[in-house]
Amino acid sequence: MCGIVGYVGKKQAKEILLEGLKRLEYRGYDSAGIAVIDGNELKVIKAVGRISNLAKKLDKSFDGNIGISHTRWATHGESTVTNAHPHFSQDKKIALVHNGIIENYQELKSELLAAGHKFLSQTDTEVLAHLIGEVYEGDLLGAVGKALKRVRGAYGIAVISQDEPDRIIAARMGSPLILGVGRGENFIASDVSAFLGHTKQVVYLNDGEIVDVRSDSFDIYNLDNQKLECDVCEVNWTLEESEKGGYEHFMLKEIMEQPEVIKNSILGRIILDEGDVKLGGLEEIKDRLSKVERIIIVACGTARLAALIGEYMLEEYAGIPVEVEFASEFRYRSPIIDSNTAVFAISQSGETVDTLAALRESKKKGAITLGIVNVVGSTIARDTDAGVYNHAGPEIAVASTKAFTSQLAVLTLITVMLGRQRQMSNIQGHKILSELMKLPEKVAEILKQTDKIHALAKKYKNYYNFLYLGRKYCFPLAEEGALKLKEISYIHAEGYASGEMKHGPIALIDEKFPTFAIIPNDSVYEKGVSNIEEIKARNGKIIAITNKDCREVARIADDVIYIPETIEMLTPLLAVAPLQLFAYYVAVEKGLDVDKPRNLAKSVTVE
Ligand code: AGP
Repeated sequence: MCGIVGYVGKKQAKEILLEGLKRLEYRGYDSAGIAVIDGNELKVIKAVGRISNLAKKLDKSFDGNIGISHTRWATHGESTVTNAHPHFSQDKKIALVHNGIIENYQELKSELLAAGHKFLSQTDTEVLAHLIGEVYEGDLLGAVGKALKRVRGAYGIAVISQDEPDRIIAARMGSPLILGVGRGENFIASDVSAFLGHTKQVVYLNDGEIVDVRSDSFDIYNLDNQKLECDVCEVNWTLEESEKGGYEHFMLKEIMEQPEVIKNSILGRIILDEGDVKLGGLEEIKDRLSKVERIIIVACGTARLAALIGEYMLEEYAGIPVEVEFASEFRYRSPIIDSNTAVFAISQSGETVDTLAALRESKKKGAITLGIVNVVGSTIARDTDAGVYNHAGPEIAVASTKAFTSQLAVLTLITVMLGRQRQMSNIQGHKILSELMKLPEKVAEILKQTDKIHALAKKYKNYYNFLYLGRKYCFPLAEEGALKLKEISYIHAEGYASGEMKHGPIALIDEKFPTFAIIPNDSVYEKGVSNIEEIKARNGKIIAITNKDCREVARIADDVIYIPETIEMLTPLLAVAPLQLFAYYVAVEKGLDVDKPRNLAKSVTVE
């Protein structure tokens, strides 16, 4: 997704803006640009490709203590210097950067063209810059507010004017924007990591808010120009946490952090002797949750696959019917929702536009809404009635790993909470929770097998197709394993319910089409063994994830990765690590950009 960084203070803006853009690189982009006000002159430099291309174009004369910058992930118009941000007003005195989509930009553009405006780019953003210039009468805050009242769509914007060289005006509607509060300097960005090295004091803007940022002050208004109160909070992530910590890639760092992440996700939330949990974020609505008769979970990608595992947990141990929905589909359906329905939104970033839209649709229909979110203060976190933070720390790699495991840990806690409000006994709750507390150590055991899994990646990296199989709790996990492989190694992979093999997929199997089979010693073990026997009979290669005593699996499979035993519902929190490592090492062996795979973004904040 696009990234925004703005600065106003005493230092040279260009260094701070470039550094901020570099910290946002992981979000995915295809061009970048920067604007500063040097004296009373507005200067802009833009470049396609990496931020280093932009840095090369910045010469000594590009000075100024105030500026805005942007990394663009093309939505309207291809990736060119002309389409890169910042964009200008007609008189070139106002510069603007934008995340999001202006849905009525064509209508606004026609109006401006009729008024004699000339456009250089194909972007919706340039239309907004011209609109602000058109209504500007010497007060940038008033002009931005007036223009935004004409706009339909999602935006996070930052605007500067050479006639007002001491202020940045920023505003958000549906696209994240955070204010960084420094000493004698202030920052604006689409993600805290852009300025975390300078300040941890932040203000999360809400939809419909506009902020007037100066070097030693900031004021927040609504679009009716009413001044608003706001809370400055402290971000609890250190800069190094969002660095690589000595690993070659963020993805490997985040895979290896999983023992710690599970610990942090459950820390202070388990009351073992009562076989119960205490989730501060749900306390206020706990009574309402005890009456909930149906749960819908809306999510995208990996978060949705975690939700599918949560479905099995909640139905088996809390006795509540659950439906998991593609958020991108749910938002356009006419879902049947009533006040006894709880809608969970699962999202690592808390900014996924489809999940947010599905959540808002659910609220309109009267559901009680909960978030399972990793980024504190994110839009989804603030839009739900209540929620549980993952406490997984920043997940930088585009491929989600530790967030997935943390989502499963939190879903386990919620299952116990809802179960204990219903038929789950203290003993049953105690058994689940005590097993959950043992997982960090068991995951750490598995993560010692990196060399073995790396060797498997070397052996299988040249195949063009993979089938991933699992049953019950391990079926959604098979889909997650397939998603990991395809999104970072670009090898086609499909996750399938093992029981579906006979209904089609087995036709694919031959020596060129290997299978990753997840067959723990669980209630459906024998069926898993039969599946791989059928695959073997058709010369299919098999990599199996199983437990030590599962000798039948070891006899049939070509390669075996062992994981420690646990209770059935928690197996995915263990079995996912080998799947993540396999995908990671295949991508490394293929020399691909593991942390920033092609065509993908870390947070999909536009449809
Ligand atoms: C997962 O590896 C993908 N990068 C992607 O599917 C991701 O899970 C999805 O976009 C949802 O993101 P969210 O959890 O931030 O909402």
